[in-house]
Amino acid sequence: MTDPLLLAIAERFGTPTYVYDLDEVDARLASLRRALPGAALRYAVKANPSGALLRHLAGGDVGAEVITRGELERALRAGMIPATQVLGGPRQDPPLVARAAELGVGLVSLDGERQWDHWLAYLELTPTRFLVRINPGLDPHTHEHLATGAASSKFGLAPPAAEALARRVAATGRLAGFHLHVGSMIRDVSVYDAQVELLEGIYRRFPACDTLDMGGGFAVPDFPLEGFARRILPLAARHRLALVVEPGRYLTATAGTLLSRVLHVKPGDPAHVIADAGMADLLRPALYAAEHPIRRVTPQADRDPAPAWRGDVDGPLCENADRLGSDRTLDGVRPGDLLAVGQAGAYGFAMASNYASSLRPAEVVVQAGVARAARRRERPEDLWRLEDEC
Ligand code: LLP
Repeated sequence: MTDPLLLAIAERFGTPTYVYDLDEVDARLASLRRALPGAALRYAVKANPSGALLRHLAGGDVGAEVITRGELERALRAGMIPATQVLGGPRQDPPLVARAAELGVGLVSLDGERQWDHWLAYLELTPTRFLVRINPGLDPHTHEHLATGAASSKFGLAPPAAEALARRVAATGRLAGFHLHVGSMIRDVSVYDAQVELLEGIYRRFPACDTLDMGGGFAVPDFPLEGFARRILPLAARHRLALVVEPGRYLTATAGTLLSRVLHVKPGDPAHVIADAGMADLLRPALYAAEHPIRRVTPQADRDPAPAWRGDVDGPLCENADRLGSDRTLDGVRPGDLLAVGQAGAYGFAMASNYASSLRPAEVVVQAGVARAARRRERPEDLWRLEDEC
């Protein structure tokens, strides 16, 4: 997206605003398809559940990975038919299971024995097939909050327990295969070596399985997809497995920009650039010390050069964690300037909140250079819309 386009969007929709470039989503989709030909793509809706984005992906023959009733219904509403959905996650309580069964969700990843107990009551109602999620107990070399394949994490079952559950499922004829998702923001593809070795043994013991779900977790901006493919495709071919992947961030992060205006600049060491977006709009810097690129969009031309600031880009709320970036250099930034926070298309708006009664940002999609409103900015009355006057 060009700077004049971002400036025009900020003028038209105000700030803070999330902008998603659908052409970039398509480019990411194409690179996944090139690297993993034939793999079923199940977009992790939690990364960015925007209806405009989901409808776009549904049109591109992408299904959904969902973990809540809300995600299930959103994906459905956007045109992702149940047969192309994978339901997973730790919840799977009776109400969620009942709804997923009623809809006929294609695949379910079981996270434990009790979830299967819930599903047993619904098998006659639905052709759903099942995966068993394995916790391989390894270090995926990522932030501890994102290391779902670590032995200490709540996800999946250790290999022996996973095989025991798989035998129960296989007895009903509904076992499709196994599921792994060892973490998010994985950069180091050697993390997959131990998983391939583990899966090699498991699929040998379950020769009737026909599906392998490797989850998501591909880092941005660059994930060595070829290295992943080199490890996983031969395994899938050896055991005649249909490959499923669940990319979230990889598809949408680089497509998204958070536009924010500078409110104040406070010189000092460090300097503080106070922007109109912060932790309520983009939580990742506060929660994971995530580093998003931040740059000035307003052109420097036609004005006296302002000094370069070294310091923090902070938000408008009252706590130190309210920050978009630490220890940055922003040349010539002054109040009123437009900032672009990059790689914000995944887990950005999705994790935005009304903390401090902040109004969640507008969302805009851009395709072939044309901007369309995808969701309006919240208004004060949205804050109390669900409250009772008691
Ligand atoms: N599949 C499963 C089972 C998952 O749990 C997740 C993400 C994904 C796929 C998609 O992962 P991705 O490709 O987006 O990395 N809020 C955190 C990320 C949490 C990811 C949770 N699970 C963040 O902002 O970094």
